[in-house]
Amino acid sequence: MPIVFHKKTKEFHLYNSEISYIFCILKNGQPGQIYYGEKIKDRDSFQHLIEYSFRDMAPCTYEGDRTFSMEYLKQEYPSYGHGDMRYPAYEILQEDGSRITEFVFEDYVILKGKRKLTGLPAVYAESDEEAETLEIYLRDRVMNTRMILSYTIFEQLPVILRNTRFIQEGESCITLEHAMSLSLDLPDDRYEMITLTGAWARERYIKKAPLHEGVQAIYSMRGHSSHQFNPFFALKRPEATEDTGEVIGISLVYSGNFLGQTVVDTFGVARAMIGIHPEVFSWTLKKGEIFQTPEAVLVYSNKGLGKMSRTFHRLYHRRLVRGFWRDRVRPVVINNWEATYMDFTEEKILKIAETAKELGVEMMVLDDGWFGHRDDDTSSLGDWYPNPKKLPHGIRGLAEKIENMGMKFGLWIEPEMVNKDSRLYAEHPDWVIGVPYRDSCHGRNQYVLDFSKEEVVEYIGDQISGLLKEAPISYIKWDMNRSISEAFSQGRSREEQGKLFHKYILGVYSLYDRFTTDFPEVLFESCASGGARFDPGMLYYAPQCWTSDNTDAVERIRIQYGTSLVYPLSSMGCHVSEVPNQQTFRNTPLATRAETAYFGCFGYEMDLNTLTEEEKQEVREQIRYYKRIRKLIMDGAFYRLVSPFEAEEAAWMVVSEDKKHALAGYYRMRQPANAPLKRLVLKGLDPDIRYQIRETGLEAGGDELMHAGMAISDFACGIRKQKERQGDYQSRLFELTAVS
Ligand code: GLA
Repeated sequence: MPIVFHKKTKEFHLYNSEISYIFCILKNGQPGQIYYGEKIKDRDSFQHLIEYSFRDMAPCTYEGDRTFSMEYLKQEYPSYGHGDMRYPAYEILQEDGSRITEFVFEDYVILKGKRKLTGLPAVYAESDEEAETLEIYLRDRVMNTRMILSYTIFEQLPVILRNTRFIQEGESCITLEHAMSLSLDLPDDRYEMITLTGAWARERYIKKAPLHEGVQAIYSMRGHSSHQFNPFFALKRPEATEDTGEVIGISLVYSGNFLGQTVVDTFGVARAMIGIHPEVFSWTLKKGEIFQTPEAVLVYSNKGLGKMSRTFHRLYHRRLVRGFWRDRVRPVVINNWEATYMDFTEEKILKIAETAKELGVEMMVLDDGWFGHRDDDTSSLGDWYPNPKKLPHGIRGLAEKIENMGMKFGLWIEPEMVNKDSRLYAEHPDWVIGVPYRDSCHGRNQYVLDFSKEEVVEYIGDQISGLLKEAPISYIKWDMNRSISEAFSQGRSREEQGKLFHKYILGVYSLYDRFTTDFPEVLFESCASGGARFDPGMLYYAPQCWTSDNTDAVERIRIQYGTSLVYPLSSMGCHVSEVPNQQTFRNTPLATRAETAYFGCFGYEMDLNTLTEEEKQEVREQIRYYKRIRKLIMDGAFYRLVSPFEAEEAAWMVVSEDKKHALAGYYRMRQPANAPLKRLVLKGLDPDIRYQIRETGLEAGGDELMHAGMAISDFACGIRKQKERQGDYQSRLFELTAVS
C-alpha cells in the first residue's frame, strides 16, 4: 500500500491492490488532480495526463503562456478568484476585503496509520499497518496561512479519506467562509448522481439523475444532517448496475449542515465536492488558531453499487464505530413509545416488560414522557428528573425492577432541547438559540439549547450523568426532534455568529464523548425524529441509529434498502410494531414485520400483552430465531437482490465471512394474479459450497444458486398451493447452511 512520491515530477501516487489516486504539484505550486480510479501500475511520470488547453478568454497564470489556466486544469483543492471560475473548495476573506489566495506547496510527510481529528468523529486505523497517510503542506505567503491536505489510503479497502486543516500563522485575522472536506475533478461527466433523499417517515429513498452542465447538489442547513438529504452521494457510470461497472461513493463523517455537489463545466469536467455548508458559515482565525474540516470518505467500486455499499459497511462497522459494542451483537429490545406514548405508569411499563421478558426480549427501553411533568409535547424538555406521579420510585426504582426481572433497562433522552414550560427555561432563557428581541419558531413546541456554549453542554451533561450513575441504565436513545431556525447565539459577538452551527455540532460530539468515555458499556442509539441524523458522524459515538419513525413493514423495506447504500445492518434500529400500523394504517402479517426487522438491530415497539396466545408464541419463536442469526446479520456481507424502488417486490441477503451461512429475505408487496414465473438469483455465495435451504429442504451448489437461482414462483406469483402467506405484504426467508 505504498504512497509514492516522484520527486522530479512532484507526483504523488497512492495505491493499493484495487485503486490508484494520483495528483501532482503543478508549475504554480498548487496541487493538480491526475487520476482516480481502478489501480494502475506506477511509473516515473504521469505528466502526459495533465491536460493543458489554449482557450480564448481563459484567465492565464503566466504572461506569455496561454495554456496554463486554472480554469481548465484539474485540481485537488481549488481556490476562489485566482484563475478558476468554477466553484472553489474554500474561500478566505481577509482584512483588506480580498478573497484571493495562493497556497503553494512547501513540503509533505507520509505517516503510518492515521491521525485523529481533534473534536471530530473520523474513521480510524487500528494498526499502523492497515493505513498510510499523506499530508501536503501548502502556504499562502501573503496571509502567512498554512493549509494541510490530508489523504489516507487503506491497505485492504478501496477507500481514500480526505480532510483539510487551516492554521493561521500570520498576524492578521482571516475568515474562512467556505471550507470543503474534499474536492475532486473528474475528467468527464458521464455519470449519474445517486442520492438518498426523503422526509420524516420516508427517509433515504434512492434517487438517480444524470449529471448535466451546471450544479447538482444535496444539502442541509437545518443544523443536523436531515431527513431530506443524507450526507452522501455516488457518481455511477450510466451502464453500471448493482453488480457491475464503475461507481464513486462520497460520504461525509459529519452530522451538521453540509453541502454535497457536482459541478459540470461546459467542457465536460465534473467537479465533486462535499463538506460543511458555506451558508451562514464563517470562521475567523487569529494567529495560532486552527480550523479542521470534517472527514470525507471516497469509495471506489469497479463492481457496481453493491461493492460500494459493502466497502462502506466494512469501513463504518469496523473502523468508524468504536468501543464495547462494536463487535458485540445487540440486545433484543422492547420500546414503549408506540405502545403507550406518554401515557404510562410504572405499573404499565412493568407489565409490558414482564410479558416481553417472558417471550425472550432482553431490554426494556422507556421512551419519552418520564421526566418533569411531561404528559404531552408542550412541557418539561430540559428537566431531566423523573416525574414522581408516573415513576414513584424514580428511574432507579424502575430500572432495578427491570434488572431484577433479568432484563436490561434503557432510557430515552433529548438533551439538546427545552420547552418553555420547564424549570431550565425559567432559569436560563438565554440558553436557547434565537434572537431575543424577535419571535422564534418552535418545532414540536420545543426550542433548541445553544450547544455551542460549553456551560450549556456541561449542565445537561451533569444532569444526565447523574442519572447514569444512579440507576442501572444500559442503553440510551438520544433523540433530536427539530431543526435549528433563527440561528443566533445569544450574548455572542457578530463575528462569533458564523461559528454557531459548527460549534453546535462540536458541542453535541463533546457530550457524546463525555458519556461514551465515562460510561463505555452503555449502548447509545442516536435518533432524530426517526432518521434525521442517520449519518457517519453519529456512528462514531452511537453504533446504532433509529432508522425511521415509520415502522410499517412495507415502508421499512424501502427505507432499510435505501439506508443500506451506505450504512451497515448493524447500525439500523428496526422494530416490529402493531397493526394497523400507526403511520400508514396498513395491516401487514406479524411474520412480514419481523422478517423485515431481522435485518438490523431487532426489537418490538408495541405492548405484547395485546397479542393473542398464538401470536405470542409466534413472537417467542421470532426472538429465538433472531438470537440465532443475529451474529450473521451484524457481521455478514450484505447483498441487495431486488429493488423495492423498481418493483412490487424486494429481496436482499446476508452472507457470513466464511460463506458457510447466509440468510435471504424476499418480500412481495402486492399479490399478483397469474403472474410470470419467478426465480430468485442469490449473490455472494461460494460457488463450490453445497448449501441446504432450511425452509424448503432444497440442497444446491452456490454456483447453481448464483446463476440458475431458486424457483420461488409458488410464493412470488400468487400460485401458491398452501393457504398460509397468501395475499399482499408477504415475505419469506431462506436460510442457507453449508452441507459438510
Ligand atoms: C421521536 C422518535 C420516536 C420517539 C419520539 C418521542 O419522534 O423518533 O421514536 O422517541 O420522538 O417523543
